[in-house]
Amino acid sequence: MCFTSNLSIILAFTGVLLDISYGNIMPETPLFDPKKGRLIAVSNRTAVDPNARAGGLAVALWDTLVETKGVWVGWSGRVKDYAGNKLQTKLDDGVEFALCDMSKIQYEEFYLGYSNSVLWPLLHNRLDLAVLDNKFYEAYCEINEKFAEIISGISGKDDFIWVHDYHFFLLASYFRQKNLEAKTGFFLHIPFPAPEIFRALPQHDIIGRALCDYDVIGLQTDNDVRNFKRFLSEDHNGEVISDEQMKVGDRIITIRHCPIGMNAPEFSETANSKMAKDAAESLNRFLGGRQLIIGVDRMDYSKGLPQRFEAVGRLFDSYPKTHGNVSFTQIAPPSRSIVDEYAHLRETLDQLAGRINGDYGDLDWIPIRYLARSYSREEIAGLYKMADVCLVTPLQDGMNLVAKEFIAAQDPNDPGVLVLSQFAGASEQMNDALIVNPHDTDSVADAISQALKMPIDERKTRWAALYKNICEEDIVWWRKRFFAPVKTITSEIAATK
Ligand code: G6P
Repeated sequence: MCFTSNLSIILAFTGVLLDISYGNIMPETPLFDPKKGRLIAVSNRTAVDPNARAGGLAVALWDTLVETKGVWVGWSGRVKDYAGNKLQTKLDDGVEFALCDMSKIQYEEFYLGYSNSVLWPLLHNRLDLAVLDNKFYEAYCEINEKFAEIISGISGKDDFIWVHDYHFFLLASYFRQKNLEAKTGFFLHIPFPAPEIFRALPQHDIIGRALCDYDVIGLQTDNDVRNFKRFLSEDHNGEVISDEQMKVGDRIITIRHCPIGMNAPEFSETANSKMAKDAAESLNRFLGGRQLIIGVDRMDYSKGLPQRFEAVGRLFDSYPKTHGNVSFTQIAPPSRSIVDEYAHLRETLDQLAGRINGDYGDLDWIPIRYLARSYSREEIAGLYKMADVCLVTPLQDGMNLVAKEFIAAQDPNDPGVLVLSQFAGASEQMNDALIVNPHDTDSVADAISQALKMPIDERKTRWAALYKNICEEDIVWWRKRFFAPVKTITSEIAATK
């Protein structure tokens, strides 16, 4: 099938190509050499809207694609009565966006259905919330095949196709059916659960085989890598042939632990911007010198928000000196609110915040402020900087860049304290935070109290270690880790020709 020839012309003009042979990790080496092929990234949600360049996936891909003048294929964000394969293109800062619409049925069954009511809960260990309705799977196949067709129409054999997240597990297997020669990589931004959980998915076998059609698979944590390798060996007779390679049938795939990072110095500057300072000032007027505990999360059940609210309530129960002296502000922009579980979560949070404020609040003190709306990246950075404590307490999370952003935003001379869930991917790297079990209400309340009272020297020591880590294992380090094995693969292929 042929897609907009205009796009191919535009793409040829953008002309910056992917060097899949870079691999030698010299800081001054450009990530891609524009002589070989383009980087084509694929993700359901893109950063085409400049205001949406905030989440982990969006920031990570945007920087990489600007640097490589790559192509970003994804959903336009629009839902139509009928949606064909027609592409809308946009060139922004050298990045070529190629976007398509979804039909109402595809939105309901692919996006809300299979992606967010089946895969999302299952991969976050919430089998109890997964709606295992096989009709959603048809729409999932349809969208994966549609994207495979679009990409075969715009890619060449020297391009590298970098697929992101659980919306597109099947893409590489459709590429193979269409004899696409380009090399492919897949990065999963969310956790990969224990095989015992993944097996509950009726399509676990097909999805497992489809994942083996990628050449490189990147996962956020060591734990995800262990789970995925165990799944391949127990369910697909996968053989470990080296530390990072497995043979499954006739396929050899590289499986690599690549924790996503961020640009810490750039975020520190953001926290010093005028917008950041204005936001901090307006919150400060409300706080009137009280200590601030902050939380910033998409309103999602994986983030452990009800458990966090309970822990803050327990703090007020167990530590009466906090009364009138400490306020908790939770920013929680609503998300996927048409899905039942998300609507229930909103009700639960409304009730909990109301109850805790009713129990403890006073004429001049609101213990919990819960803001169900979004703020700009600058405003959030300003709020992180002024906070004494940040609560990042998900029940399960791929990485959680809030933890890293909070650290990046701090004043080194008076840093705040991070309370971090042991179930956030970030806890594998950030063990100088106060690590907590979000299910254990008492111990989270105790950790918050410890954080509020922590002496300045201990705060500085912990912060320095955390900041060093986020600077060393940053966004560039992440993508280099992902792309390094590509060199080995391409040279092995060349040797067998
Ligand atoms: C997580 C996922 C992303 C997703 C984002 C927002 O970070 O890893 O793939 O785009 O949530 O969710 P939404 O459903 O609004 O795209």
